[in-house]
Amino acid sequence: MGEAGRRRTFAVISHPDAGKSTLTEALALHARVISEAGAVHGKAGRRGVVSDWLAMEQARGISITSAALQFGYGDAVVNLLDTPGHADFSEDTYRVLSAVDSAVMLLDAAKGLEPQTLKLFDVCRDRDIPVLTFVNKWDRPGLEALELCDELVERIGLQPMPLTWPVGEAGRFRGVLDCLDGSFVRFSRTAGGATAAGEERLDPASALAEEGEDWVRATEETELLAASGGRFDPSRFFAATATPVLFGSAVLNFGVRRLLDVLVELAPPPTPRSDVEGRARPLDAPFSAFVFKVQTGMDPAHRDQVAFARVCSGVFERGMVVTNATTGRPFATKYAQQVLGQQRSTLDTAYPGDVIGLVNANALRVGDTLHAGKPAVRYPGLPSFAPAHFAVARPADLGRAKQFRKGIDQLGSEGVVQVLRSDRRGDAAPVLAAVGPMQFEVAAHRLETEFNAPVALERLPYSVVRRLDDPAQRALVESRRGSEVLTRAVDGTDLALFVDQHTLGVLRRLHPELAVSALVAGAE
Ligand code: G4P
Repeated sequence: MGEAGRRRTFAVISHPDAGKSTLTEALALHARVISEAGAVHGKAGRRGVVSDWLAMEQARGISITSAALQFGYGDAVVNLLDTPGHADFSEDTYRVLSAVDSAVMLLDAAKGLEPQTLKLFDVCRDRDIPVLTFVNKWDRPGLEALELCDELVERIGLQPMPLTWPVGEAGRFRGVLDCLDGSFVRFSRTAGGATAAGEERLDPASALAEEGEDWVRATEETELLAASGGRFDPSRFFAATATPVLFGSAVLNFGVRRLLDVLVELAPPPTPRSDVEGRARPLDAPFSAFVFKVQTGMDPAHRDQVAFARVCSGVFERGMVVTNATTGRPFATKYAQQVLGQQRSTLDTAYPGDVIGLVNANALRVGDTLHAGKPAVRYPGLPSFAPAHFAVARPADLGRAKQFRKGIDQLGSEGVVQVLRSDRRGDAAPVLAAVGPMQFEVAAHRLETEFNAPVALERLPYSVVRRLDDPAQRALVESRRGSEVLTRAVDGTDLALFVDQHTLGVLRRLHPELAVSALVAGAE
């Protein structure tokens, strides 16, 4: 299918400060979405890119939701999904990765693999998502290129396959060796990195004459890597066992164009998604999509929800009436899209790989499947991730206990937080579990504003969670101080919580028969 084949839908995974916002702008700049990066991201008076996307949209008429940035590049249509990754790191961040076909792992040259990047990478690995690596900030002193490559092998077992290699150590960045054809790509700076950097290609002899030692070193290092399994092989990238690596500087716009070219040339287009029975739905089957993110307006007067869905098959046309496979109910997209149109851009048509934002979507939940026409389809729900933060929730106003319970059930079913219960704690005091603490704030806010049921949260000291494989071992786990077993409401999974690794370790030593296993990828 032509339109689906043109799509490249990906997300950037990184630790805060690695340069994701800067890279997003630089990518958009190269796609000529904006004429000057500085126009939306001045050094002074800096704003977040998410809000900047609106300005970019107005300037260039590109289609944006707060979840995705879409732009054309050559014949391709690029969908860059936002992974909220700063203070609000949460389960949402992980779920976005269920909607992409590939990911760009962005590393800070001075820091290498950082905790949040590792967590997100785990999710990619779990889903076999091919990952490209972009080593950013090479214009600043940092680790050695070989050291960074070693990290990939040693810490996450991913074979680096450099496509470019820096000439000049970090901090003295002039260009890259193109590992595919052996030429030297020399960059030239533009004022403040505000426009696309100049690029000039030199043959190896000229590169040697001009760069001397630095060129020799770059060629030696790449030969070394090639000899130890780092020769580029697209099939290993698709199999997610190896990662193409590029070096650059987002802020100077060095190496960003190549990243975009590589994404378009190498990253996979949408492929048929499997339904709950494991049958792949062809891309040209009638429209289907699944909801991967639901955002509730924080304005209590307007409890409108925006649901973001990724198109998996067929063509979405504004106004079509689709079926929500979870409830069997129809969902009209007309009004929703018009409202979105007033605020943002009107999206008339979308194809597999695209993200549609549906407002007034109060009936939609994360994981829901939408489809039109026959045959019907239902995609698997989205996985829950290993929570790392826990808090007991109690109604602050006992007179509102009923509303409180209703609210907790609602938030649990939406996946805002995970709701855990046990007979011991009783229904009145469920435990909320979250991947990031921001989720508690959102939950508390919604309980108060939407259900008029203010909540008192008491944080619990647990930080380690495992699945309890044998329910009969509940008492055994709870015999240790600093541990507890709770049942997750949404899927009935028994979770064993421990204050720390040590507590779990001691229990395991004392009871080798203890049957616990890691939850799906996430904060382990
Ligand atoms: P994030 O979205 O991943 O959190 O990172 P963001 O783009 O906000 O970048 C974090 C900081 O790193 C910013 O500096 C940004 O300018 C800088 N940065 C991003 N890419 C590069 C790069 O390639 N080289 C260098 N040297 N710096 C880079 P800041 O001081 O927070 O803001 P600003 O005042 O510099 O804009």
